[in-house]
Amino acid sequence: MNITTISDDIFKLSVSLENVLFEGIWEIPRGVSVNSYIVKGEKIALVDGVCGWDGVPEHLFEMLDQMNMKIDDVDYLIINHMEPDHSGWLEDLRSIKANLNIICTKPAEQLLEAFYGRVDNIRVVKDGDTLDLGNGRILTFATVPNVHWPDAMVTYDTMTKTLFSCDVFGTYGYIEGKHFDEDLTEEELVIFEEEGVRYYSNIVATFSDFTKKALDKLKDIEIKVVAPGHGLVWRKNPSKIIDDYKRYAAYQKDPDLHEVTVLYGSMYGMTEKAVQHIIESLKNYDVKVNVHRVPETSWGTILASVWNSPVVILAMPTYEYKMFPPMAAILEELGNKKVHNRKALRIGSYGWSGGAQKELDEIMKHKGMKWTFVEPVEFKGAAAQSDYQKMDEGIIELMEMIGVSDTAVTV
Ligand code: FEO
Repeated sequence: MNITTISDDIFKLSVSLENVLFEGIWEIPRGVSVNSYIVKGEKIALVDGVCGWDGVPEHLFEMLDQMNMKIDDVDYLIINHMEPDHSGWLEDLRSIKANLNIICTKPAEQLLEAFYGRVDNIRVVKDGDTLDLGNGRILTFATVPNVHWPDAMVTYDTMTKTLFSCDVFGTYGYIEGKHFDEDLTEEELVIFEEEGVRYYSNIVATFSDFTKKALDKLKDIEIKVVAPGHGLVWRKNPSKIIDDYKRYAAYQKDPDLHEVTVLYGSMYGMTEKAVQHIIESLKNYDVKVNVHRVPETSWGTILASVWNSPVVILAMPTYEYKMFPPMAAILEELGNKKVHNRKALRIGSYGWSGGAQKELDEIMKHKGMKWTFVEPVEFKGAAAQSDYQKMDEGIIELMEMIGVSDTAVTV
């Protein structure tokens, strides 16, 4: 856990998480930071917290010690969002300072009681409300409902034009000693781009329409520093992460990238052999190809890949009259995350009966996914030459849909 100075009288207190499943589901191979901020005027506000894993409150107290501060010195606790990665330490704080003044939205007030029992000294704020910390430091608040929970808001420091944005503009990823965008090399910026998509697709994706509304709401605010609840503080080029989030929200329906995800499962190698043919055929096109096998690949990795891919090739066998179960599970999750409008091809082997296609159609329908499929290629046992021909025709069709011509590039 560490302390970073953002600007005069604004400090970031953060912890990096590794080797846990974020939200109990999502792998975070490059970790994630959870950020809290101290904002000083005459009065002191603590904006958000850091989660309760691994005794973090003790680290928080150690950091306050390093700053010659105690919890008693904190006048206001601003809860931008009640999810326990930001509020999980609240009970520890209240056990030391029971009369903490809490600033939050109305939905957060209700969640506070549900998670932590009765909480006093709450000031409920709404859009445009302010908090005067003295010495000219005035904070304002803007609600951003459903980014990522209904209670979410952002806090804006009018003096430094710093936006404490909580989950909005968050990313996974943590690099030791790198806290600001200006600290990163070009290669490290690429890492944070990847970790941004991974975070967005895992955590925010379902709420893309709300994210678009939030971005629209924030567009008239002059933002010089983006200080999110996860990831880097964007100080050199805050518009980078703001524009990234516009892209990520748009990718829900239309990723304008030349990228293909091949998602497959195989029992005895028949479907896998056909996948190898597809991978070879895709080498004839100028597209980035991501190949993931289920159930071996984590859902988080698959979500990030499909989020960037306008074209998805699904390959799975039929299993006991139904779709290969791990594929059905991830497709349901893609539906839950509202991954819409992909162009797709399904292929797969069956033994004594089909059934995968029927289940696929059902998932697409009940999740309202609106994917456009070219003719599926389903084969009994091993794929025949005529099946490979049909796969290649399907690929040509898909490439035409995303504007990649069939003028092959040599790989
Ligand atoms: Fe980082 Fe939705 O909590």
